Amino acid sequence: MGSWIRHHFSRRPGWMNALMLFCAFMTVIYVPWDFFVKPIAADEEVWFGVRFYGVWAKALEIPHWFVYAAGMVGFWRLHSWMWPWAAVYAGQVAVSMLVWPLLYPEAGGSLVTGLVAGAVFMLPTLGLWNARALFRDTKRKPMSERYGKWALITGASAGIGAEFARALAREGVSCVLAARREDRLKELGEELARDHDVEFRTVPVDLATATGVELLLSQVADLEIGMLVNNAGVGYSGRFDKQDRDRLAQMVQLNCAAPVALTAELLPGMRERGRGAVIFTGSVAGSQPLPLHALYSATKSFDNLLAEGLWGELRGTGVDVLALLPGSTESEFMQVAGEIPHAGEPADQVVQVALDALGHQPSVISGWFNWLRANAAFRIMPRSWLALIAKDVMEKQTPEDMR
Ligand SMILES: NC(=O)c1ccc[n+]([C@@H]2O[C@H](COP(=O)([O-])OP(=O)(O)OC[C@H]3O[C@@H](n4cnc5c(N)ncnc54)[C@H](OP(=O)(O)O)[C@@H]3O)[C@@H](O)[C@H]2O)c1
Repeated sequence: MGSWIRHHFSRRPGWMNALMLFCAFMTVIYVPWDFFVKPIAADEEVWFGVRFYGVWAKALEIPHWFVYAAGMVGFWRLHSWMWPWAAVYAGQVAVSMLVWPLLYPEAGGSLVTGLVAGAVFMLPTLGLWNARALFRDTKRKPMSERYGKWALITGASAGIGAEFARALAREGVSCVLAARREDRLKELGEELARDHDVEFRTVPVDLATATGVELLLSQVADLEIGMLVNNAGVGYSGRFDKQDRDRLAQMVQLNCAAPVALTAELLPGMRERGRGAVIFTGSVAGSQPLPLHALYSATKSFDNLLAEGLWGELRGTGVDVLALLPGSTESEFMQVAGEIPHAGEPADQVVQVALDALGHQPSVISGWFNWLRANAAFRIMPRSWLALIAKDVMEKQTPEDMR
């Protein structure tokens, strides 16, 4: 608990922690009370120093609620969009303080009290204006400078893995591309070398076998791997008892055992060098029971938790770990899984979310709707409800003969 508090509260100055806690109080306690409990007749809101009453006040509580909720999340995560908006909002409050006594002298204020109150609120305004560097740097250092020259990406022949390779090459990282389809890997490698002037190495390998993992490790033994992206994975849609037993065992090997072995081998070098990154492509499917994809969700839960545990273990060593939790994503996954096609997020967008979060947090969920599902529904609902609701959803995505 102590180290959790130190980690989360040492990242910003005390006054900003106070603003964050104030926003949390307003979001969770005061504004809901104001909105749901206070009678309309007694309601009063102030924007830019102008008072609003009754129904107008009730309506204007909604943007206030939004502002405080955004402030709570923005300060917590130090999101880049907080600059300049947090300063602008605080400035609005400072102006309100100045204008208020001039507009409503009957309330007992004067120009002097307005100036004093306005000046007090100018302090956080200036603080927030000057805190740009603290909010996440959108022009962050390129990955090649942060972690070194080489990345190993598994499952690079398609979907999310191929987009990881493109995104890392754009940041100057040379890539070892591993998957079974060699032609796809070569084509991608040549694209990276041509477009981004980086080196590449292809390793055609079946990671659903222990020998495949050893082969891959032997092929990168001469390289200093600064980033490992444990991304290769499959899921097979349908009832557990209708699945082929060998395929189930291969899924566990590919989704769980391979990332464990690769990480165990490459992590000590990163730790020794004092820099490195390991990304696990988990899934939001790993945050809940998922009938008709039961083993897949269990393997992804394994990946999610392994990454988060390692994040905690490696904090302060210079090695960043991240669990990337995508929801449905445009790739070959659905086809391989035998799912009925459904909409998904573009894979390059998912990868960008991961790279922006790396080094800042243990896990990241791509997509606001997935975030809402995983953080609201999955945490609050009884597991039995979750499993049964998920079953209804999955039935629509599963071919009839596999239900
Ligand atoms: N798409 C989604 O909706 C979604 C959602 C959440 C999480 N994910 C996760 O995202 C990761 C990437 O999936 P994706 O969506 O990009 O799917 P994808 O397009 O099917 O890509 C899967 C990649 O894994 C490789 N792979 C599969 N079996 C392999 C094996 N036995 N040995 C070596 N490589 C193997 C594939 O290459 P080869 O076939 O050439 O071997 C391919 O490069 C997976 O871990 C998946 O669980 C996907």
